[in-house]
Amino acid sequence: MPAEEKNKVIYISHPSGSSAEIALYGATVTSWKVDGTERLFVSKQAIRDGSKAIRGGIPLVFPIFGTKENIQLPQHGFARNSYWEYVGLINDNDDVSVRFTLKDTQLDQKLRNGWPHSFRLTYTVTLTAKSIKTVLGLKNEDEDTFEFNTLLHTYFHAPNIADVSVDGLKSLSFIDKVANGAKDSESRDQVTVSAEVDRIYCNVPDKLQVNFGKDSSIAIEKTGLKDTVVWNPWTDKAKAMGDFGDDEYHNMVCVEVGSVADWVKLGGGQSWTGGQTLTVL
Ligand code: BG6
Repeated sequence: MPAEEKNKVIYISHPSGSSAEIALYGATVTSWKVDGTERLFVSKQAIRDGSKAIRGGIPLVFPIFGTKENIQLPQHGFARNSYWEYVGLINDNDDVSVRFTLKDTQLDQKLRNGWPHSFRLTYTVTLTAKSIKTVLGLKNEDEDTFEFNTLLHTYFHAPNIADVSVDGLKSLSFIDKVANGAKDSESRDQVTVSAEVDRIYCNVPDKLQVNFGKDSSIAIEKTGLKDTVVWNPWTDKAKAMGDFGDDEYHNMVCVEVGSVADWVKLGGGQSWTGGQTLTVL
């Protein structure tokens, strides 16, 4: 059975043995297994009752990143904490693809007032033997242009953060949120994590790689998305989050592809698409 809906979670499996789970709440991918190994991190303290965005997996950030002074929306917008509609299985050949949609009319009035635009988001998750592809489509159903940010907030499971490195960011400019938004440029071939890190790397080439030690790596290939955030809350921020274990920062790293440094403008009636393919190497 390639796709099954149970308790508002869609389970998909591939003949090779890979599998994934997607919660209708946020259309959040909460599990991706290849060769029997879980590749995504979800906190043991994640709240799964639909009252808060799920702490882990691949939450979708839209239409704002962080908070914005003049936009009355929760941090990271509403896509990750709204129930999406499950459209269904969209093909059933070698790959297994499922699709979800979110329209402005599905949001409560407060959120619609916070971002008063007509839109349709379409999210397609495709599983192959070694990869998962997550692609977001957006249609502006207004006559006027609107602007948005979006991000695939991927939490990778890491056996040990000391062994994690990210390739492909050398020489890029970044905004350091830990240093009050100071701008800097990356000097390292491999970005490692040994303290709190919260950086927006700007105008990032489409191919990155996250290494987890012991010959274990995941390639990230993005399309239509300019930036990449690298985030690990480390000790103090971990303790401050109610839905994250104090020590769990040892076992995760977020490498999040998106367009967040600048607004993306989308004309009335126009469509946009962006996404990523994660492949176990
Ligand atoms: C990252 C941001 O994308 O998300 C961080 O860069 C933020 O600043 C993190 O802390 C988690 O955000 P939230 O809202 O899920 O706690």
